[in-house]
Amino acid sequence: MNGKEKPDKEIPVILAPMAGITDCVFRRICFEQGCTGATTEMISAQGYLSAPRMLKAYGDLIKTLPGEGTVYAQVFGREAKWFGMAVSAITELGLFDGIDINMGCPAHKVTGGGNGSALMRNPALCGEIVKACVEATKLPVTVKMRLGWDENEITCLDVARAAEQNGAAALTVHGRTRSQFYAGKADWEWIGRVKQHVSIPVIGNGDVDSGESALEMLRVTGCDGVAVGRAALGNPWIFAQINAALRGEMYTRPSYEEVIETALRQAREMADWKGEKRAVLEMRKHFSWYIAGRRGAAKLRPRINQAETLNEVEGLLRSLEDRA
Ligand SMILES: Cc1cc2nc3c(=O)[nH]c(=O)nc-3n(C[C@H](O)[C@H](O)[C@H](O)COP(=O)(O)O)c2cc1C
Repeated sequence: MNGKEKPDKEIPVILAPMAGITDCVFRRICFEQGCTGATTEMISAQGYLSAPRMLKAYGDLIKTLPGEGTVYAQVFGREAKWFGMAVSAITELGLFDGIDINMGCPAHKVTGGGNGSALMRNPALCGEIVKACVEATKLPVTVKMRLGWDENEITCLDVARAAEQNGAAALTVHGRTRSQFYAGKADWEWIGRVKQHVSIPVIGNGDVDSGESALEMLRVTGCDGVAVGRAALGNPWIFAQINAALRGEMYTRPSYEEVIETALRQAREMADWKGEKRAVLEMRKHFSWYIAGRRGAAKLRPRINQAETLNEVEGLLRSLEDRA
């Protein structure tokens, strides 16, 4: 597609899962801007089943809001039986449109126990896990994966095939290995090889940060859609920007007024949910992302981080000199 042609079907533009970030409030804001699907923050299969004292925390992780679009629950773990039981319990909640299996998280505390991207070292196990999930739910089951463990252990083709053969409905492929974490450039050529290797839909992920880069990712990989992670931080408008590019239309970035209003609305909704004190704390990083790149942001950031009320934050955001 050259950006001028109109797509004949909706191309998925998905909010990639981000632990500590993609909660229901942020997701709903992304949906307003044209995001077509999202996942919850990751939930431990074993933890969800076996830690009733933690249920409040899990309740927050799996909370959804009216007005959200298609939301999948993302589950991590390492044993097929725990996945099956957790997926069955999560399905019964009736909150989700699907289940996404985390085979991509690189964090030591996750891979150390054999979860997340460590699963990709064992494609047969990946297949068993997908099978257990598919058998435990009527909802579609998707897989979020990387290219492999490191450059000597690229297993994405085997994992993708195992997932497909065991009933996965789609894959999201982040074009990095586990050992790269988030460094270097995502390898879109490899994502394209995965796309060629299976017949289920493949969503490309890694380094999409504009309308042009989304079009380029689709061109290079031949993927069915894109998933956007870091470029959505403080910038839910990325979804409007990508959709405009897909339609061959111009995109106008939001005014600073709109940026502030959106940041404050997110904060107020967080406050309604978790109380003002916690909302101000949890929103610090978001405020910092919303103003990133603007003149005066670096000076304002420490003051926002000391603020204790939403009124204080609002005054500070409105004091930024760079309001273009
Ligand atoms: C802070 C942070 C948290 C993340 N948490 C998850 C997660 O819980 N599950 C997951 O599958 N991927 C997670 N990811 C990976 C993203 O979904 C995505 O694959 C990665 O950021 C690459 O896409 P991007 O270049 O668009 O950011 C996380 C990434 C970041 C930056």
